[in-house]
Amino acid sequence: MSLRDTSIPLALDSGSICTVRLAGETDWEGFRRHARSLLLAGVPAERVVWVTSQAPAGELIPMPPATTSVAPRVPKRFIELAESVILHHDPGRFVLLYRLLERLQREPALRSDPLDRDVLQARQMARAVRRELHKMKAFVRFRPLHRDGEAPLHVAWFEPAHHVVEAVAPFFVQRFAQMHWAILTPMRSAHWNGSQLVFGAGASREQAPPADAGEALWLTYYRHIFNPARLKLDAMRREMPRRYWRNLPEASLIGELAASASQRSGRMIETPATLPRHGSQAWRIAGREPRTGPSNAAAHDMEDPKNLPADDVQALAQLHDMAERCRDCPIGEHATQVVWGEGAVPARLMVVGEQPGDQEDLQGRPFVGPAGRLLDRAFAELGWSRDELYVTNAVKHFKFELRGKRRIHKTPGQREMLICLQWLRREVDHVRPKAALALGGTAARALLGRAVSVNRERGVWLPSPFGIPVLVTLHPSALLRLLAQDREAAYREWLEDLRRAL
Ligand code: URA
Repeated sequence: MSLRDTSIPLALDSGSICTVRLAGETDWEGFRRHARSLLLAGVPAERVVWVTSQAPAGELIPMPPATTSVAPRVPKRFIELAESVILHHDPGRFVLLYRLLERLQREPALRSDPLDRDVLQARQMARAVRRELHKMKAFVRFRPLHRDGEAPLHVAWFEPAHHVVEAVAPFFVQRFAQMHWAILTPMRSAHWNGSQLVFGAGASREQAPPADAGEALWLTYYRHIFNPARLKLDAMRREMPRRYWRNLPEASLIGELAASASQRSGRMIETPATLPRHGSQAWRIAGREPRTGPSNAAAHDMEDPKNLPADDVQALAQLHDMAERCRDCPIGEHATQVVWGEGAVPARLMVVGEQPGDQEDLQGRPFVGPAGRLLDRAFAELGWSRDELYVTNAVKHFKFELRGKRRIHKTPGQREMLICLQWLRREVDHVRPKAALALGGTAARALLGRAVSVNRERGVWLPSPFGIPVLVTLHPSALLRLLAQDREAAYREWLEDLRRAL
């Protein structure tokens, strides 16, 4: 037997083996073209060696002439399966696919034989690839690389188990269309410059930037949404297998948080509630540090979760009560009352705003002022009822500045938002929404755990550390601030974002 290489071309004498050279690991078009020629020439699977462009060249010989003019039969379902299988890392995938194709010509019943060894193997490979596609969407973490006079380049390092970079890149283009980014992997890299997607050779971990200040914030966020009582390490390992951990900043916390989880849960159960009363001096407003000793957050933890009623509505009522007395940050000290969420429990959609405004603070209900009226108008046009949704805010107390007698809204700081996450997280736990709608940057940041440019990322579903998809759009107050002539068009666009949320 001789080993021959065909980049189209080959003439087979009996017993020859031909080598088919593909343009790359994921060269689906090349595979199709060659497989078709080989089938027409009647070349059996065991006499074909498939190599990708990286492999050394062999001897080139011409393609054998077709021995049949009957077009090969290729079921549509085979194509769907093969498009996934070809992304698998196993070098034997081309042999398997060609063998299946060849057998399908002789054994049409194969297409409905789920127990056939080749079919089973191909299906398993396709499943592994689909899982990897999903994991890559969830676990890629960008770090900004600042460049003189240019927009920052956001670079991520990822080590996929299969050849999925090209297949996943369009997802990131859609999600981060305005951002310049690069995803580096050992096998392939993808670069997006805001208008063009280019694939290049593999890279090394050192080419990706190290951790930055934003990452420290992300870790703080992760600590805040981490719920020790819900920790299920097995499920977590299933969802986030260990091999991804080394490139995930938050994974460095898992060991530490897991180790303290049972201790923290135990403390929660044993310790009776010891919350400070309204008006306590836990924080002074003029930006001083909070008192030392256990924080109020720790005290809330002690009440949660086994002391809460099993019924979600009752648990939410109790949490509402606890949040009323929260002084973990200074805002609550000056607000009239806490403004807790309201609506359906469980709810299909949780609508999250920034913080209560003046009217909400006085009435104790979310979105009852001018922004709420605009939201109600939109809900009515879309045929939604507030009763079917759960409406809440990222920050539960009204932050304002006194100007004479007027209370002027002040945007909550990141730190206040982070402290208030303990309440939002518990609302999500008990409202169990299938998805969330983030109105404005503060809500988006709280739900996604990172800075969000609302204009760039609005209107598409984004994965969140809360485990539910999040759709980001403008806050209604942003529309109210627009000049009258721009408002209607912006409102219509906003309605389109909202429409996507249900
Ligand atoms: N703005 C918000 O973000 N939430 C409200 O409840 C009211 C106005």
